[in-house]
Amino acid sequence: MKNKIISVSAPGKLMLFGEHSVVYGRPCIVTAVNQRIFVKIVKTKGDSILINAPEVNVKNYSIKVSNLGKIDYPKDIKFVLKSVENFFKKYKVSSGLKIFTHSQFSSLFGFGSSSAITVCMVKGLSKIFDIQVYNKALFDIAYKTVLDVQGVGSGFDLAAAVWGGTLYFVGGGKKIVPLNVKPFKLIVGYTGIKADTATLIKNVADLYKKNKTEVEGIFKSIDKIVEKAKINLQKGNYRVLGDLMIKDQGFLNSLGVSSTKLDNLISAANTSGAFGAKLSGAGGGDCMIAFVDKKNKNNVMNEIVKKGGIIIDVKTGAEGVRVERI
Ligand code: PMV
Repeated sequence: MKNKIISVSAPGKLMLFGEHSVVYGRPCIVTAVNQRIFVKIVKTKGDSILINAPEVNVKNYSIKVSNLGKIDYPKDIKFVLKSVENFFKKYKVSSGLKIFTHSQFSSLFGFGSSSAITVCMVKGLSKIFDIQVYNKALFDIAYKTVLDVQGVGSGFDLAAAVWGGTLYFVGGGKKIVPLNVKPFKLIVGYTGIKADTATLIKNVADLYKKNKTEVEGIFKSIDKIVEKAKINLQKGNYRVLGDLMIKDQGFLNSLGVSSTKLDNLISAANTSGAFGAKLSGAGGGDCMIAFVDKKNKNNVMNEIVKKGGIIIDVKTGAEGVRVERI
C-alpha cells in the first residue's frame, strides 16, 4: 500500500482590536488574512519523524518517535514536534512521519506563523489517522500545544487559523463567534522590526502588578472599544471603526507597548486621510493597520512608505484551515 499523504493550509491573522487585554480573558476582534502556511504530512512505516522546513532553514531533521517528549526540540520546529507529541498522546496513535512546511509570508511580520503551523499539524494528523476532530477540539489541542511551548497567549491567532473569517474572540477561547462581515480594505504597514511578544506580554503583566486599578481601567475601556467595533464592523461603518482604532491605540500607548516606528507610521496614516490607524498584535514592531476609503488609499500608503514602512497587500476574512488537493 502507498504511504498516506495529506496537505493542509491555514491562514495568517491580523489583530483588529483588543490585543493585550485579551490575554486577561477579555474580548478581541481578529481577522484571517489570505497569506497561508502549508504543511504536507506523509505517513511512513519507519520509526522516525523527518522534518523539512526551508523557511526556518531546517533540512532533514530527524527524531525517533520513541524520543518524542523526552528530548529538547530545536527552537524553530518546536510547534511542529509538540503538535505531534500532543496528538499522539491524546488520540493514542503513533507512526513514522515525513513533514514538509511552506509559508507564503515571512515569520517576521507577526501574522502568526507558529499558530497557523500548529493548526495545520493537528488538522493534518487528524486526516492522516482518520480521526474526526471538530473545530473546537482542534482549537483546544492546538492551544494546549502553544501553551506547552511558549507558556502564554490568548489563543486568538489559533482561532483565526481554525475558523478563518473575522472573529469575536474571548481570551482562552471562552467565546469564539464568527462575525458576519463583508471583506474590507485594510492598509497594513510593516515596521521591519520583529516584535518580541513574550517580553511585551511580560511588560504589561509587570505594569498590571504595579498599577492594577489603572490597568484594569484601561482594559475596561478597550472592552468597550471591542464591543463597539463588533457592531460597526458588521454594519461596515469604517469611519467609526477608524475612530475606535485611534482610541485603542491611545490605550495601547498607555500600556507602553507601542514604539517610535509604529507611532510614526500610524501618525503618517492618520494625517494623510486614513479614518484611523493602530498597531496590530503585541506592539514594539511588526505591523500597523489603518482603515481608509478608496479616495485616500494611495496617499496613505505613500505616506507610510515615506516614513520607512513596507506595505503588505492582504485580503481580510480569509478561509480557515483546509485540506488541499495534492
Ligand atoms: O504579536 P502577536 O501577533 O502574537 O499578537 C499578540 C497579541 C497579544 O494579545 C499581545 C497576545 C495574545 O496572545 O493575545
